[in-house]
Amino acid sequence: MYLKDKTWILTRRELLATSAGNGICLGLGLNPAANAQTGQIILKPIPSTGELLPVIGLGTNRWVADGDKNTTTALKSTLTTFSNLGGRVIDTAPAYRSSESALGELIADIGIRNAFFLATKVDKEDSVDGVMRMENSRLNLQTEQLDLMQVHNLRGAETQLRSMLIWKATERVRYIGITTSRTNQFAKMERLMKRYPLDFIQLNYSVVEREAEKRLLPLAQERKIGVMVNLPFHRGRLFAAVKDKPLPKWSSEFDCSSWAQFFLKYVVSHPAVTCTIPGMTKAKHAEDNMGACYGKLPDEAQRKRMAAIFKAT
Ligand SMILES: NC(=O)c1ccc[n+]([C@@H]2O[C@H](COP(=O)([O-])OP(=O)(O)OC[C@H]3O[C@@H](n4cnc5c(N)ncnc54)[C@H](OP(=O)(O)O)[C@@H]3O)[C@@H](O)[C@H]2O)c1
Repeated sequence: MYLKDKTWILTRRELLATSAGNGICLGLGLNPAANAQTGQIILKPIPSTGELLPVIGLGTNRWVADGDKNTTTALKSTLTTFSNLGGRVIDTAPAYRSSESALGELIADIGIRNAFFLATKVDKEDSVDGVMRMENSRLNLQTEQLDLMQVHNLRGAETQLRSMLIWKATERVRYIGITTSRTNQFAKMERLMKRYPLDFIQLNYSVVEREAEKRLLPLAQERKIGVMVNLPFHRGRLFAAVKDKPLPKWSSEFDCSSWAQFFLKYVVSHPAVTCTIPGMTKAKHAEDNMGACYGKLPDEAQRKRMAAIFKAT
């Protein structure tokens, strides 16, 4: 069912029906946060198509395959925990060392490619180099069709977007976008948003980094561009900032039982945001973070109260 702000709440019954179609075994009973809340996963539509995505995804810039069996087992456990709790969106990049190939192998091993929405990036100036980089991503991720291809940090944006539009027309990728994690690139991002038919932008936004609220998030809403948020924990620094500080009691009003869920719910409750991709290598973090995909989201007044605790940078 749809809420007033077009957020879609999937009922447990609908979720199980969807997951059965995808061959996923969803273990809602595994999720303490979900059990404590309503048992519904929060999905939002990609503005250009209406396709629904869970609001919490997975960032993999630390997913390095070092050949160690223990590392592989730990990452597999994180991926299955994420998937079992309803997670679908995975963000990677060729620049993240062996992240793409590690994911490709794990996904092939688990055997549920269609359960995931795979987003990767291209980071070249030159057109031929860019196409080779994108082809390599398909090989690494072991898939014919990528879900989202993004220009990494706006590098060679005009050139790469021209290739990406061809890739979209020929169904090698379903959606295209551009990324940054630097506020000093926001002006360039704004120009590109006005010029190209983008499905997604990806940018840095958190309870302490709120610059995106000024121009880019409203522009994304106006131009019907999806927003994927990176650095929701400010590269993990937010946990140090709240170390030894109790979670505010009022955060239970929006079904929040950890600081991680507090930070994630702040980000995904912005009406322009489609989803966020917290970096996580540990299964216990995947379980905690997926808790933010369930229950209520904070309203505008609650968001103001959340932001007031932190000094924005
Ligand atoms: N320009 C770009 O396109 C760009 C730039 C930067 C990042 N990104 C994307 O955004 C993703 C997120 O960025 P990020 O990983 O650098 O920063 P982040 O999501 O702000 O923070 C990640 C850190 O938080 C920790 N963490 C995660 N969940 C936790 C929990 N529940 N409790 C305590 N600690 C927790 C992680 O630990 P563990 O790893 O130990 O679980 C990791 O150290 C990246 O993985 C990447 O996909 C894109």
